[in-house]
Amino acid sequence: YPIFAQKGYENPRETTGRIVCANCHLANKPVEIEVPQAVLPDTVFEAIVRIPYDMQLKQVLSNGKKGGLNVGAVLILPEGFELAPTDRISPEKNIIVIGPVPGQKYREIVFPILSPDPSTKKDIHFLKYPIYVGGNRGRGQIYPDGSKSNNTVYNATSAVDASEGRQSVDIIPPGPELLVSEGESIKLDQPLTSNPNVGGFGQGDAEIVLQDPLRIQGLLFFFTSVIFAQVFLVLKKKQFEKVQLYEMNF
Ligand code: HEM
Repeated sequence: YPIFAQKGYENPRETTGRIVCANCHLANKPVEIEVPQAVLPDTVFEAIVRIPYDMQLKQVLSNGKKGGLNVGAVLILPEGFELAPTDRISPEKNIIVIGPVPGQKYREIVFPILSPDPSTKKDIHFLKYPIYVGGNRGRGQIYPDGSKSNNTVYNATSAVDASEGRQSVDIIPPGPELLVSEGESIKLDQPLTSNPNVGGFGQGDAEIVLQDPLRIQGLLFFFTSVIFAQVFLVLKKKQFEKVQLYEMNF
């Protein structure tokens, strides 16, 4: 759960670029993020996070029964960018986590985001900024205390030779399906169960330009001046042609 990530880690994104959810959500599945190419300052825009999966899928729940999957996401915004409240009251954080929410309804999560204004915030500049996203569907494999969930594969913690009659105990919770049967010899680390996990975590990033409206206005002004210059050159040429005609008649 995102709350596990918030409790266990100071920064949701490790220096390697890996988002910490991946430490417990071991399977890798895709996520997508869509943001505008550029935004103007102090403007609300949308970041759309998609966490696709097959809606028919069922996973093992903590009680061993089967059930639907939930989704959750973490969005890491650049300094100054914030979640936009409906009435635009000043928000506080630039790291947003959501979930778990039912995947049936929320395979697509839309985050309304407010861009910062360099004219009011001195440390904000008109630059290109990265946005990082992590998205998860389905239950994790490891709890914060390091124990395994029942949504993962269980391996033999020691080898057992069937002919020796020595015992070794591995407790397997309801959920994963047993692959071994009575009287079988078992190697160390051999999978004792199937891997029931049908979910997975994925991460991605996007870039967004914080655009200065003056740049756009300047560009438009330049375009207009070029058009006028061209038109006047043509008019001048027409005028000069008249002079040439006049001189020829003479
Ligand atoms: C469950 C998302 C980080 C361990 C879930 C669920 C979601 C989720 C949506 C519910 C899945 C379902 O019910 O189908 C996330 C996100 C994370 C994150 C977005 C990062 C921001 C972590 C971390 C850990 C973890 C760091 C381990 C320390 C688990 C476990 C479950 C779970 C064990 C299953 C709990 C249960 O049902 O008993 N997570 N998670 N997650 N997560 Fe995470």
